[in-house]
Amino acid sequence: MAEVLRKGLEKVGLKSPEPEGIPPTEPAANDLAELREKYEKAEQDHVFAFYDELDTAGKAALYEQLSGIDPRRINILADKALHPPKQDEDKQPTIEPLPSEAVDSLLETDEEQIKKWYEAGLDLVAEDKVAVVLMAGGQGTRLGSSDPKGCFNIGLPSNKSLFQMQAERITKIQQLARKKKGLDEDATVPWYVMTSGPTRRPTQEFFEKNKYFGLDKKDVIIFEQGVLPCISNEGKILMESKSKVAVAPDGNGGIYQALIMSEARGDMRKRGIEHIHAYCVDNCLVKVADPVFIGVAAEKKVDIATKVVRKRAAKESVGLIVQKDGKPDVIEYSEMDEEMAKATDSGDRLKFRAANIVNHYYSFKFFESIEEWYNKLPHHVARKKIPYIDTEKGESVKPEKPNGIKLEQFVFDVFPLVGMDKFACLEVDRAEEFSPLKNAAGTGEDDPETSKKDIMQQGARWLKNAGATVVSESDQTGVEVSPLISYGGEGLDYLKGREVKAPAVIEKSGAQ
Ligand code: UTP
Repeated sequence: MAEVLRKGLEKVGLKSPEPEGIPPTEPAANDLAELREKYEKAEQDHVFAFYDELDTAGKAALYEQLSGIDPRRINILADKALHPPKQDEDKQPTIEPLPSEAVDSLLETDEEQIKKWYEAGLDLVAEDKVAVVLMAGGQGTRLGSSDPKGCFNIGLPSNKSLFQMQAERITKIQQLARKKKGLDEDATVPWYVMTSGPTRRPTQEFFEKNKYFGLDKKDVIIFEQGVLPCISNEGKILMESKSKVAVAPDGNGGIYQALIMSEARGDMRKRGIEHIHAYCVDNCLVKVADPVFIGVAAEKKVDIATKVVRKRAAKESVGLIVQKDGKPDVIEYSEMDEEMAKATDSGDRLKFRAANIVNHYYSFKFFESIEEWYNKLPHHVARKKIPYIDTEKGESVKPEKPNGIKLEQFVFDVFPLVGMDKFACLEVDRAEEFSPLKNAAGTGEDDPETSKKDIMQQGARWLKNAGATVVSESDQTGVEVSPLISYGGEGLDYLKGREVKAPAVIEKSGAQ
């Protein structure tokens, strides 16, 4: 495995870390000189400013970290990200909504068709051909919790974390597949959890402490995405301390490189996975391994599919899935003029309404081509307040306003790589499928309270649909339905005619 990892790292231009337990030694003088020269040529040699005053461990660590970075490549990436080529006025891209044959909407499709997709998707789950990839490498700075976002307790009566809810949905879908096909054992949906330098250890510890939430440990594969150095506004690599370069995860688009480097993709291949659902950790309503989504994508034989929700109003600031110069793409709210944002179609709906929720399907076949294109994905600039050490004055600085940039890749930048005929879009009900946790409590938008409310209201809706009455004597409304009882509102018929006092938790099935 170590050899495989080393080769994987070398393939993407990185060096593998030294095995643990070996005492550090100072780098040889000629190796050090060679490395310094590389940084001098790139005009980034300020990173050695404190080298001579470091102890052996510090020297070894800094040498190791700097050896794993190609300063010339960083300069190129930073330059491209900071000075993107100017759009030729005469060559404005053509932006259109996706063609209708690429789009299906659960809001406008009859129940029978949705059931067909569901059944087809569940069959694939039962055949152990479906895997799930979770993007959980972000630092959640807006939420402000020191733990990884997936560990966050949004205040449900059960106190379940986001990770636990997602794990239980996987358990449930494995059971539903077994029941449908009359299998002897539950189906297996392996869960590939992408973490990053800052989130890996606490994520791993949280899973261990919680016994993988009832999942089989061998089917939960925690892997790590890459990092990139943080850069000052002037394009210089920032130092976090005298012996360490400031680094940050390389964005959720780092998923592709990480899948091949970590051998997560190799594991999928070994298991015979054909369909992959990838999603963000912060959506408390996410339908993990959703059979309907898998069913749609498999039927259309696409390489990539994406779920969207309907944009609420012309002014809502969301990214949109569009067709740009004939290719699937995402455009940011800021890239749309008012006329475009307000335009309506013949059905009086917004013409551009496919709001991006970063919830994707990939065929495994497409993942087999990652080496051909991952290096070409662009890097975007995120301007941040990055604590650093001033290499001239030797002082630590905690900036009050953004002083530098983090370079990030976006997971959806792969869309234009596939033709429109290999891309599908599924519009889903926002109330059922999308409520992201982005901000700290009390913000009033996409915060722990809105996450909790959306789960509780969904539960109450499911109960009412099943024929139960939900009553509440206080302002505490809603019902939390355990994912182990119901994945998407099914299996609640036993509550028909019953009165449920909110707030309530449904954690027992009719059979119990
Ligand atoms: P966001 O861009 O919302 O970032 O991530 P974040 O880390 O959750 O929050 P802020 O911006 O620091 O406040 C969207 C999704 O992409 C994942 C996140 O974990 C989340 O699921 N992500 C983001 C990664 O997996 N890796 C990254 O490098 C960045």
